[in-house]
Amino acid sequence: EQIEKGGFEHFMLKEIFEQPKSIHDTLRGRLLVEEGIIKMAGIWDNLERLNQAQKITIIACGTSWHAGLIGEYLIEEFARIPVEVEYASEFRYRNPIISEKDIVIAISQSGETADTMAAIKMAKEKGAFVYGICNVVDSSISRVTDAGSYTHAGPEIGVASTKAFTAQLTVLSLIALKLGKHNGHLSNQEFMRLISELDTIPQKVQEVLDTTHEITKEIAKNFVDAQNFLYLGRGYNFPAALEGALKLKEISYIHAEGYPAAEMKHGPIALIDENMPIVIIAPKQGHYDKIVSNVQEIKARKGKVIAVVNKGDTQVASVADYVIEFPETSECFSPIIASVPLQLLSYYIAVYRGANVDQPRNLAKSVTVE
Ligand code: AGP
Repeated sequence: EQIEKGGFEHFMLKEIFEQPKSIHDTLRGRLLVEEGIIKMAGIWDNLERLNQAQKITIIACGTSWHAGLIGEYLIEEFARIPVEVEYASEFRYRNPIISEKDIVIAISQSGETADTMAAIKMAKEKGAFVYGICNVVDSSISRVTDAGSYTHAGPEIGVASTKAFTAQLTVLSLIALKLGKHNGHLSNQEFMRLISELDTIPQKVQEVLDTTHEITKEIAKNFVDAQNFLYLGRGYNFPAALEGALKLKEISYIHAEGYPAAEMKHGPIALIDENMPIVIIAPKQGHYDKIVSNVQEIKARKGKVIAVVNKGDTQVASVADYVIEFPETSECFSPIIASVPLQLLSYYIAVYRGANVDQPRNLAKSVTVE
């Protein structure tokens, strides 16, 4: 097992550090920047059907559901097809309105999740075309879906999903950009700009690992005894906040909630005092000014702010208690990069609490029962 961990203390840490490579592997052979194309057989072979969809419903559970929420932002922004995102466990029991004109995208790392599997069967019975995004090759979900794309993140052993999540976001980015290019909603110039940028994401993830590893480890020491955490983000980074909170809950057993930053004033603000740590994702591109005022509101109530900001930020950084910097990107790709220091933060808090990081209590890597 020590050999499999490749010198890392846990699989989770190894998998966090593998992300520049796993994202590169997800893009390899698909993103052909010089030729100006995205090559994905599953999408190409079904292009007409996908682009004529009345709506796309994304079904998934847990972390994969968070990836689905970001997929909604991506597909609606670039391909202008209406998207709904549903927990597979709810979808399967509520007789949803799905027809032959609908596309269902099922996202699953393991490809074995029982609720997602049952939801796919129901969608197929209603005549929908089901597209799978799985990590495990030849898994049950990848076999039952009509078409699909693998994430190619490699085996994920840690129960808390890390590299599979960023690979899912990468595949969803490719799908949204490809659909948008072919249905004419995305100009060729914008498509070229975005694919060139997507191509640089593995390097940016490497950079964020190099520059934030020690800092997050230090910051984590201050929160070993925390009992609650809030995670806030807006736009594309709202689901990244949900995912940050889930990571902390799963492995450190600290109660954490994710919220869209603007919802703070509708309830969670009542919780804020000097004992409430708040992780806030505040990239320059993405409602920055609004988030600055959220940070001020938190500080006025003495909350402890851990700000995840772009490199060189001064405004948020000057009021935050702790600052984690990441390289600037278009907002649509920022969750891929911003999620990495959040993974590290949860990892180190859990390690300092003496928790079993790779196999947290009560959790299984794939949930094959209801
Ligand atoms: C992620 O950290 C969790 N362990 C869990 O939420 C997981 O994402 C969920 O069970 C879905 O699994 P799947 O992607 O294999 O379908």
